Amino acid sequence: MAQQFEDRFHRQFYYLRLSVTDVCNFRCQYCLPDGYRPEPGKPTGFLGLDEIRRVVEGFAMCGTNKVRITGGEPSMRRDFTEIIETVASTPGIRDVATTTNGYRLKKQVSAWREAGLTKLNVSIDSLDPKMFHLITGENRFHDVMAGIDAAFASGFEQVKVNTVLLKNRNSHDFRQFLAWIKDKPIQLRFIELMQTGQMDRFFAQYHQSGVSLRNQLLAEGWQLAQRRLNDGPAEVYQHPDYLGEIGLILPYDDGFCESCNRLRVSAKGKLHLCLFGEAGVELRDLLANDASQDALIARIRESLQSKKKTHFLHQGNSGMTPHLASIGG
Ligand code: GTP
Ligand code: 5AD
Ligand code: SF4
Repeated sequence: MAQQFEDRFHRQFYYLRLSVTDVCNFRCQYCLPDGYRPEPGKPTGFLGLDEIRRVVEGFAMCGTNKVRITGGEPSMRRDFTEIIETVASTPGIRDVATTTNGYRLKKQVSAWREAGLTKLNVSIDSLDPKMFHLITGENRFHDVMAGIDAAFASGFEQVKVNTVLLKNRNSHDFRQFLAWIKDKPIQLRFIELMQTGQMDRFFAQYHQSGVSLRNQLLAEGWQLAQRRLNDGPAEVYQHPDYLGEIGLILPYDDGFCESCNRLRVSAKGKLHLCLFGEAGVELRDLLANDASQDALIARIRESLQSKKKTHFLHQGNSGMTPHLASIGG
């Protein structure tokens, strides 16, 4: 193995978030309220299978062992199952994960699992079908829930569910969510809304801090589980009476970035050192053939030296990220 990717703050990177498309078929109010629109004047050519293979190989050669396939909605890619296969068959990759809106889950999850998917995150912002429709723009609550059942039936032992905390939309539903995971192996993660470039009044109106949830969990006997090397940013809480777990993703919390272990590659092949960073470093010119692997690794390694210690969200600065669909969340 070539030397492990590491930045100036001694953070090591094991976890690649690889976006495979910017396209999404939902219209979540906090992300793509008007639906996906291609950037005017820019071609929509997303990374092809060979380019995906090469970029994942480059990362795996430097210690990456977990790849999360993101989007947009990754399953909008017709070759999504082949993408999973390509990533899963790369030497060194132990975990192949994806984050999906659940739209194609019911029909396709067993094929994804057979192709090598090991971990699955699904977004569900409300357990009330009407509120789900309002937030996502799609009346698909029951389909997504059936998709989660299909995931368990096809052999996933746990499914993670993402719920973006929204004041007065789902912030009073804590009890309902807890009841839902009492006997289900679901890790339900409440995510604090992050302000992105194309969001202004929405953030002021709907942002809800998750800190009070943490206090409530601790007061009710939930205990913080130990963090493992490849874990994402969630702090996970467990309770002896619950099969499910609660995760909190609090990006505005002090120290959130200290445990950063992941790098991102966009659907058009740019390396992003942070979810809220600058324009991204072009990698695509080095993905056209197998002969450029050393140069690819060298470019990633060099770029890492400019990774910042933390994001600047507290100053209302989300870098160049218009919405999370543009970079894979
Ligand atoms: P696992 O713990 O591996 O399951 O992954 P994850 O929680 O990182 O993945 P997921 O795609 O489900 O993301 C959940 C939420 O965490 C999304 O809102 C992401 O945008 C957010 N998130 C993931 N990584 C980062 C990060 O590096 N910085 C910030 N600020 N948010 C992140
Ligand atoms: N703030 C917090 N979470 C967000 N997501 C998308 N946009 C935002 C935002 N602005 C979540 C989605 C999905 C995950 C990949 O990111 O709900 O679960
Ligand atoms: Fe890492 Fe940036 Fe995420 Fe912070 S916001 S944890 S630095 S990727």
